Amino acid sequence: MLEMERSQQYIPTRRFAVADQLRNPRRAFFRHGWAFLALPLAGCSSALLSTPGPREEKTADILPTEYLMYEHGILSRVLLIYEESLRRMGEGRDFPVDSLASASKIVRNFIEDFHQKLEEEFVFPRFRKERRFVETVNALELQHKAGRKLTDTITRLAAARDLEVPGNRLELARSVEQFVRLYRPHAAREDTVVFPALRGLVTPREFRLMGEEFEKRGEELYGYTGFYRVVDQVAGLERKFGIFNLAELLPEQAS
Ligand SMILES: [Fe+2]
Ligand SMILES: [Fe+2]
Repeated sequence: MLEMERSQQYIPTRRFAVADQLRNPRRAFFRHGWAFLALPLAGCSSALLSTPGPREEKTADILPTEYLMYEHGILSRVLLIYEESLRRMGEGRDFPVDSLASASKIVRNFIEDFHQKLEEEFVFPRFRKERRFVETVNALELQHKAGRKLTDTITRLAAARDLEVPGNRLELARSVEQFVRLYRPHAAREDTVVFPALRGLVTPREFRLMGEEFEKRGEELYGYTGFYRVVDQVAGLERKFGIFNLAELLPEQAS
């Protein structure tokens, strides 16, 4: 029931995406619509120029924990934006508050309404069923709920464009700081404890089916290459904050 066609990946491998389009570009265009057009914008233009060999079409399945950790990468990059906002608020400097609002919407749509739902529906119950790390997963789920309240506040205040109102800037800074403090350890604990342990709680078949279900959910919500689209959105926000270019983040003596 969870079997699906490889072409429906929401995190397609670059090789596969290219192979699919080159094999039947018309079909790929109508089947995947905007996503096909968006591929060059998603950084795939160089890949489109290289013709893959037949063997390159075969790629390893993405593991369910791999999906979740990729998604944590999105969260981590949003936290960088939050931290940069905090730094500028602390220094009394301006910052692109609209972009902070956009970052909080990515948290709501992608992290809270998608990624965390996968954890709550498929991952945490396995631990409770096997009586493993129950306290940890219960605490993680409570953190999801607390995070949602903070996101409500951040989205409201960042969208209000009313940071000159006394107290609003302080409340925004406090909420952003609390969110970062909540989610740095949250994601780190999942990456190092929960996700590695999950493999030992399910059979290889269940593990594979879980990965296929995650893929299906991602495809339904975000479409073909949807993951890369969200990555692009976050990258655009990083540019607005001037934190995208990694070379510029080198310490002075190293540049
Ligand atoms: Fe989580
Ligand atoms: Fe997570």
